[in-house]
Amino acid sequence: MHQISDVAKRLGVSRSTLLYYEKIGLISAERRDNNYRSYSEHDIEKLIFILQLKDSGLSLQESLDVFEQKLRPDLLQEKLVLLDKDIAKKQQARELLAALIGQQSLRDFHIQSESNAPKAHQVWLQSQGLSSKDSQRLRWLSKDINQHESYMSEFNHIFNSLERWAPGSENETLAALKLIPGNIKSILEIGCGHGIATLPLAQHSKASITAIDNEANALDYLASKIADKKQQDKIQLLNADMSDLPFKEERFDLIWSEGSAYIMGFENALRYWKDFLKPGAFIVISELIWSTDTASEKAKKYWDRNYPDMQDRATRLAQAKQLGLKLIGDFSLSDQAWNNYYQPLKAAIDKSRSKLGQSEVLNDIDEEIAIAEIRNSEFDYQFFIFQL
Ligand SMILES: C[S@@+](CC[C@H](N)C(=O)[O-])C[C@H]1O[C@@H](n2cnc3c(N)ncnc32)[C@H](O)[C@@H]1O
Repeated sequence: MHQISDVAKRLGVSRSTLLYYEKIGLISAERRDNNYRSYSEHDIEKLIFILQLKDSGLSLQESLDVFEQKLRPDLLQEKLVLLDKDIAKKQQARELLAALIGQQSLRDFHIQSESNAPKAHQVWLQSQGLSSKDSQRLRWLSKDINQHESYMSEFNHIFNSLERWAPGSENETLAALKLIPGNIKSILEIGCGHGIATLPLAQHSKASITAIDNEANALDYLASKIADKKQQDKIQLLNADMSDLPFKEERFDLIWSEGSAYIMGFENALRYWKDFLKPGAFIVISELIWSTDTASEKAKKYWDRNYPDMQDRATRLAQAKQLGLKLIGDFSLSDQAWNNYYQPLKAAIDKSRSKLGQSEVLNDIDEEIAIAEIRNSEFDYQFFIFQL
């Protein structure tokens, strides 16, 4: 027989807890001659056993039920599911903390934040000392604040060698231009990159073109192409942010954006850019869209992580209409336009493989190319031509 203080010590519980267990009938005490309680070894072991069950998340009563063979498997099954959920949540919390102190990748955190709370994500990134440009690049490209610089350096190494940075073709740029009636005197091109649309626009219109981008190297490269083609008089290049344009309102006859509106978000871009159009002026945007309601799981999963705000054509048209923009015409880019982007990209990464070795950039591009290859018209790049 054992005294209460010894039992409390052995079980790691307080005296009052033991008294409580006695009160609810979990154990019974005998009184000694001196009126002190004493407990049997059998009772103590029963208690140890029950407390072990309790540690697995059962209540005291449930633990006793298990001990007394009043076992309810369905209840245990429910508990197991709850426990698994709890573990998964705690594991996520652990990963996030480890990632925040640089011990592992922050990708999932950034991807989830971008999908669930994009504005707060942007604010947080800038509070971490990233410039507005870098926080945008991080949201779309590196998706990991711990790896951002090295990621961007590898990314630029590959993309600087390419002419085109989005699906498209000169024919389709000119087909969109043809849909604009009247005499266009001024064009603002937003996100011109290496000028894959800038030069055809200059060569096939009489307009003076202001082409902006916030990638200084791209503008330098484009400046030399413009000089080669002797188009300096028609094209002015500017390093500017598409979400903070350095122009007066109602300044342009046409705004042109190939593969760049998504950076601000299609709807935000239209809402902000339209103020820089003269009344009755035009805006041309090419944008990735869903072309089916029944996309494959693979495509959905990929774009949910990489472009959570991707929409179908009808949604984009409704958004434009809501902003007071009239549809003049639209069309999907051809397979050739997709190949114009992905074939050189594939060649560029194959060339970089031995130099870069294991690389997140190469993995990301491989994944994007693989999705583009099974596109099956589930998603398209759509040219939209609107009028204010
Ligand atoms: C997908 S690329 C398309 C480039 C080009 N229109 C083409 O089709 O090859 C997007 C372009 O937008 C530029 N960009 C990204 N964020 C920008 C910003 N905030 N302001 C201006 N340009 C930006 C990038 O540097 C890049 O040149």
